[in-house]
Amino acid sequence: MTSSSLKTFGQQVSRRSWAEPWKIKSVEPIRKTSQEERAQAIQEAGYNTFLLRSADVYIDLLTDSGTSAMSDRQWAGMMLGDEAYAGSNNFYRLEKAVQDYYGYLHMVPTHQGRGAEHLLSQTVIKKGQSIPGNMYFTTTRLHHELAGGTFVDVIIDEAHDPSYEHPFKGNIDLEKVDALVKKVGAENVAYISLAGTVNMAGGQPVSMENVRQLREYCDRHGIRIFLDATRMVENAYFIQDREDGYADKTIAQILKEFCSYTDGAWMSAKKDNLVNIGGWLAVNEFELFDALRNLVVVYEGLHTYGGMAGRDMEALAIGIEEAVQDDHVRARVGQVLYLGDLLLDWKIPIVKPVGGHAIFLDAKGFYPHIPQDQFPAQVLTAQLYLDSGVRGMERGNVSAGRNPETGDHRYPALELTRLAIPRRVYTQAHMDVVAEAVKAAYDNREQTRGLEMVYEPKELRFFQARFEPLG
Ligand SMILES: Cc1ncc(COP(=O)(O)O)c(C=O)c1O
Repeated sequence: MTSSSLKTFGQQVSRRSWAEPWKIKSVEPIRKTSQEERAQAIQEAGYNTFLLRSADVYIDLLTDSGTSAMSDRQWAGMMLGDEAYAGSNNFYRLEKAVQDYYGYLHMVPTHQGRGAEHLLSQTVIKKGQSIPGNMYFTTTRLHHELAGGTFVDVIIDEAHDPSYEHPFKGNIDLEKVDALVKKVGAENVAYISLAGTVNMAGGQPVSMENVRQLREYCDRHGIRIFLDATRMVENAYFIQDREDGYADKTIAQILKEFCSYTDGAWMSAKKDNLVNIGGWLAVNEFELFDALRNLVVVYEGLHTYGGMAGRDMEALAIGIEEAVQDDHVRARVGQVLYLGDLLLDWKIPIVKPVGGHAIFLDAKGFYPHIPQDQFPAQVLTAQLYLDSGVRGMERGNVSAGRNPETGDHRYPALELTRLAIPRRVYTQAHMDVVAEAVKAAYDNREQTRGLEMVYEPKELRFFQARFEPLG
């Protein structure tokens, strides 16, 4: 092959290449283990990648949560930690960042996203109420249920079909919301649980038009909308890229406009906000804020630190500002799309279109011969690790858990293995290695067998369940 036949990725897709808007200052060595070492490690982990030691992992795509690389400005900010028990300077910096970029009036910090979900659910949900939302998320739905509520899925039908191409597959179906309101009465709807982007649907965005219409509907019926803003910056990128009238708006402008149609938001700051730990809950109504501020001291910590050190709040305030920079978001989502384009080009079954934070492999498409009660997505996740040391996560029957009333598996339509890309951590070469690992698992699909669950925890079973291979 002559060198002139080699092409950069930009040349392959007929555009100029772009690069990440940062350079690397500090590195963490990683090591690829042998096939024998990986076989032993995954067996000891009960074929559950949550139970692997990270030292046994080569490229870690378990989650994009808390795995971002902080910037030099964030690390410098850590030295400005004001560790006063009450009224830390860093709290006021964080409060201002949330107000400036998300637009809400009042904020309480929490140790991470589920801490905020707990406070909101306990404060706003009355026993027996319904909480409609655009597809369940594991911890969110559990907090709804622990507060005595019932989650009702009102996402558009297309979201449940992995191969259906829709630019805003995270949209809410207003007819489904209306049918629920007619059935139970608006007073029995606690709030709309709106996520942008939708993790379990494959990182799919919600359009501005959809949230605007939802706001109008909710105003007519006196229903509040709370936003899971965990990956809302990535949602803003898709609006900028795909929705009419937004191409010339900045990510920061789009984010603020979207939030303005909601009554408040909770945040796992470990994702978009570029920190390793932290969260927050922000609302506009003072009375509600007052109730949340009362509860945060019971479960998280004083309302001016909520489970975070002062230094963590400083890094988070800086992270919020860095996260909305257009060149950062383009590079972040662009890296996910790069990996997705390779897999799509090789006709590997993945959720389409590719979402903002992860590639979701369609395990039913890989293994049509493995029934869902033999956990195809768990199988694929384990196979990928075995082949290459790449760690992903199951997002299918195991994650969906059991119906609390019938005790049966929930058998979700989407049976997926998620490869979540940490922010500012891996290079294009890592993505190439991952793509080849997925291809190897796909090429070996017909020889692959199912798993049996041999240990099942009661809550959020996907974290700690154990499996054994079927013969
Ligand atoms: C969409 C979404 N909401 C909420 C959470 C919960 O946040 P945390 O893990 O910080 O408790 C997560 C975490 O993965 C998430 O992806």
